[in-house]
Amino acid sequence: MSATGIRADLNGRTAFVTGGAGGMGRVITTELARAGAHVVTTSRDRGRGEELRRRVADEVGADRVEVLTGDLSSRADPHRLAAEFTARHDALHLLVNNAGAHYRERALTADGVERHLAVNHLAGFTLTHLLRGHLLAAGHARVVNVVSATMSDARTVPLFGRARPVPLDLTGVTDVRALNPAEGYVPFQAYARAKLLATTCGYEFAERLRGTGVTVNAVHPGIVSTGIVDDLVPTALAPFRRLVHRFLLTPEQGAEAALRLATDPDLADTTGRYYVRDREARSPDASYDPDVRAVAWRLSLDWATAPSGAA
Ligand SMILES: NC(=O)c1ccc[n+]([C@@H]2O[C@H](COP(=O)([O-])OP(=O)(O)OC[C@H]3O[C@@H](n4cnc5c(N)ncnc54)[C@H](OP(=O)(O)O)[C@@H]3O)[C@@H](O)[C@H]2O)c1
Repeated sequence: MSATGIRADLNGRTAFVTGGAGGMGRVITTELARAGAHVVTTSRDRGRGEELRRRVADEVGADRVEVLTGDLSSRADPHRLAAEFTARHDALHLLVNNAGAHYRERALTADGVERHLAVNHLAGFTLTHLLRGHLLAAGHARVVNVVSATMSDARTVPLFGRARPVPLDLTGVTDVRALNPAEGYVPFQAYARAKLLATTCGYEFAERLRGTGVTVNAVHPGIVSTGIVDDLVPTALAPFRRLVHRFLLTPEQGAEAALRLATDPDLADTTGRYYVRDREARSPDASYDPDVRAVAWRLSLDWATAPSGAA
């Protein structure tokens, strides 16, 4: 059993973990490799990826990590990464869409989409869609989307009163570039909306893949001491950042939830669910609304399948 309690023997399995050189991604990659999996991971930075590969090899005593370089905010890179993966591997047993980011300022990517959406939803959607054939080829495969409970309470200071799920109104929306517009933009909500879309479309993937052996679930890992937290901490608390980190889960504790969904034999048939750490939870009502789901799916699929460069 590994440090984070993986009960499965993953020898002969192939995993794809996005963002493996960061906080929880590093732990997820290391522990899957320790349990025997060949782990393909991504980083924007070749050096950081190479350092991870060497460190995991030293730690687990086998060179089982393969690093692909790419920027998941770009529309083209998930296509390239998926093509690189499928050129080298016949099947995919575990896909962990872990990479994510929170930004203080609103900005569009080079493709004209708000960047929270690009990194936290569209990249994972595109990879899941493009790697679907390889997931099916594995016989039994799992997709884990690392999302965030901010979707259920998108207030910047959630101390008093009722939780407020992030609004998601897709009425009349025909292009993902219309989402998270400049008018009324709140960074925390933009992040939460992207995670809500990832969860909603994950349910749809789960439904479409039901009975095929491929499961799709979402997980909130808890509030974890990683880089992303510095961007999420309200400016007023910035001087206390180091103190704040001391009260948070460690990356090892945070990674446990995604690792459990990815590997626990008891969850082999569990699909279309959302967990807050190891507890099943209900995501915002919008994610269960068939109309919202249908529009979210179509918008995301259009983005994932339109010819690259189509703006
Ligand atoms: N920490 C928390 O409290 C918390 C709570 C809820 C959910 N989450 C979610 O947990 C996941 C892991 O985050 P973390 O907490 O481990 O944060 P982190 O340490 O900041 O790691 C984020 C990872 O995402 C990757 N990434 C960010 N932007 C990218 C881009 N444009 N292209 C490619 N990769 C990109 C980074 O890879 P490179 O920098 O190597 O490219 C890094 O490995 C995220 O989805 C996050 O939203 C975290």
